[in-house]
Amino acid sequence: MPERWTPDSWRARPIAQAPQYPDPQKLAAVEKRLSTFPPLVFAGEARQLKKALARVAAGEAFLLQGGDCAESFAEHHPDNIRDFFRVLLQMAVVLTYAAASPVVKVGRIAGQFAKPRSSPMEKVGDKELPSYRGDIINGHEFTEAARVPDAHRQIEAYRQSAATLNLLRAFAHGGYANLASVHQWMLGFVKDSPQSRRYFELADRISETLGFMRACGLDLESHPELRTTEFYTSHEALLLPYEQAMTRVDSTSGDWYCTSGHLVWIGDRTRQLDHAHVEYCRGIKNPIGLKCGPSVKPDELLRLIDILNPDDEPGRLTLIGRFGADKVSEHLPALVRAVKREGRTVVWSCDPMHGNTITSASGYKTRPFERILQEVKTFFAVHLAEGTIAGGVHLEMTGRNVTECTGGARAITDEGLNDRYHTFCDPRLNAEQAIEMAFLVAELMKEERLNKARPLAAAASL
Ligand code: PEP
Ligand code: CO
Repeated sequence: MPERWTPDSWRARPIAQAPQYPDPQKLAAVEKRLSTFPPLVFAGEARQLKKALARVAAGEAFLLQGGDCAESFAEHHPDNIRDFFRVLLQMAVVLTYAAASPVVKVGRIAGQFAKPRSSPMEKVGDKELPSYRGDIINGHEFTEAARVPDAHRQIEAYRQSAATLNLLRAFAHGGYANLASVHQWMLGFVKDSPQSRRYFELADRISETLGFMRACGLDLESHPELRTTEFYTSHEALLLPYEQAMTRVDSTSGDWYCTSGHLVWIGDRTRQLDHAHVEYCRGIKNPIGLKCGPSVKPDELLRLIDILNPDDEPGRLTLIGRFGADKVSEHLPALVRAVKREGRTVVWSCDPMHGNTITSASGYKTRPFERILQEVKTFFAVHLAEGTIAGGVHLEMTGRNVTECTGGARAITDEGLNDRYHTFCDPRLNAEQAIEMAFLVAELMKEERLNKARPLAAAASL
């Protein structure tokens, strides 16, 4: 029998990556205040996402998860939210058409503030200070004062999340997301892209389909399915005092839900079996993500699955592999086989970002586009070989025209990184690179479909 879970049972466990607040009374007061604030998301929405993810696990939909590595207070602006939402929708349209399957859209947004760090200290020249841990914890500025954890930042992160989510809900349901406009934006992209020929065919097919629908008398504007979209939020559940304060009982089911986002995930540095983050996540009923890096062993993964999804509920658990282009083929197959052998239901998603970070010659933390793509390609190849489902991708991206990852059709170079390197944490795909990635993933999905269709076609010809 597992021990009884409560929203604060994580406090009795060892914890990694937790900030040391200098003023515990102030922290307690903030937690108390937060626990009286309205939930940001509803349990019913989290259940709806879980159902959608169950379809992903069954191969009937594809998961597109993306957003900033770290949201920041400084970049909080309606234009940034709009541009991100726009790019994610464009990517979703590309993927929907290519795979002829629904795309479940999940943003790393409206709560993605807390960051795990590989080193507790950061050194610049001779000066050493505590690392930046995300705007919900301390400041990015390299000064002693900024780096002290300040509990009040949690209130500001809540406010920003609420305002961001409010705008996202308006975009998703207020007509901005209608299919015809998304397609128009995409035609703009295809026209300006250095690789436009390659994308033209797909864009053309979508135009034809929309034209056909109109010719059949379908008024695209008047159909809610074409005018609105479901959009979900997600973030790493790293800062547990905040998450606990946002944990509420759902009145319809009597279950506990984390109401700071629809899906929350456990990071690769905080997934120890007996530690606080796994303990917290096992008791909430939201869909959960689990980052899996090269150090996860198949047995350990099965034990984590037992803890996090003991009833094998479809859609509950998304395993987000982040191995690196050069390591994925060494590590992923054994994990996939173990999960398959035990008959466990999971969504397999690919984060091709976190295993492919390098330091450029010019000193920037960057990720080469080709390596990102290579990890996604290998992810698809492994699932095809194992007879399992390549369920989705998890990307760090922005709607802005930054220069943080090298490569892509516009071939950003090492020297070019300096132009618009804005990230507060990890390097993100810019809008153009993100859409390009969607086209390339779409090609992989198409190939996958053809490969899967082959045995059926052979049988049909007998
Ligand atoms: C992240 O997603 O930003 C992150 C820190 O990932 P990981 O836990 O996989 O390193
Ligand atoms: Co990151």
